[in-house]
Amino acid sequence: MGKRILVTSGKGGTGKTSVTAGIASCLAALGRRVVCVDADVGLRNLDLALGLTDTTALDFGDVIAGHVSLDEALSAPPGLPGLSLLAAPSELRTEQTEPEAFARLMAGLAERFDYCFVDSPAGLGAGFRMAAAGCDRALVVSLLEPAALRDAARAVEALERVGMTGAALVINRVRPQLLRVPGAANADDAMDTVGLPLLGVVPEDVAVICAGNRNVPVILYTRKGAAQAYLDMARRLDGQRVPPPRSVKARY
Ligand SMILES: Nc1ncnc2c1ncn2[C@@H]1O[C@H](COP(=O)(O)OP(=O)(O)OP(=O)(O)O)[C@@H](O)[C@H]1O
Ligand SMILES: [Mg+2]
Repeated sequence: MGKRILVTSGKGGTGKTSVTAGIASCLAALGRRVVCVDADVGLRNLDLALGLTDTTALDFGDVIAGHVSLDEALSAPPGLPGLSLLAAPSELRTEQTEPEAFARLMAGLAERFDYCFVDSPAGLGAGFRMAAAGCDRALVVSLLEPAALRDAARAVEALERVGMTGAALVINRVRPQLLRVPGAANADDAMDTVGLPLLGVVPEDVAVICAGNRNVPVILYTRKGAAQAYLDMARRLDGQRVPPPRSVKARY
């Protein structure tokens, strides 16, 4: 049975989609069978982060409605065998976004894939509840900023309310020069505020934007910076002991 991993944050724009695509593509590069489910109904963009152009016609709503099979709806991003995407519906159709139906869909995926990632929408409303219903663990993505950390702590409370334990924190877009500013939060402060163990720290990296512009996952664009951080997190999720790079230890 595969792991079903919710990627959430509360606050919008923290990097949920980038982190989902980054870690999932690294796990595929490590030889795992990985599916990414875009749960951002109406605002999907995980397809672009995985190197697929926005031509995906079929989505998880079509599968839940019984219009198409799972195999028909899954698309394969280029360059990473073992990686699949299940797109989000482009508009909200309530009967296709019921948490129970989504949970059944995810249970089916977990029988076929080692890792099933769900990229959740911003906020902690109905979209979050649907996405969470399909998952058995979570990654909470935050920036090192008070508003993002507070929303991440709220996301943790929301996860507890739906009975989900086993979450970890991903700190995204870290700029080392800001860590030296008096009063700036570091990774320890973030873990204290959010109340989760740390899975990894992703630096601010123009490669994330450049890879997006070239329409390739970051790991197929470079092996440094954010790509290295995604790879380290993928290995940790996969059970390997990966210490933080020495430069990271010194800084964070
Ligand atoms: N490590 C990084 N370095 C530089 N830019 C980044 C990094 N991570 C994410 N970004 C950029 O930040 C922006 C927001 O990222 P992303 O879309 O992944 O966030 P999100 O949490 O999924 O947003 P939403 O809540 O709208 O779904 C994007 O333009 C992305 O390219
Ligand atoms: Mg997103």
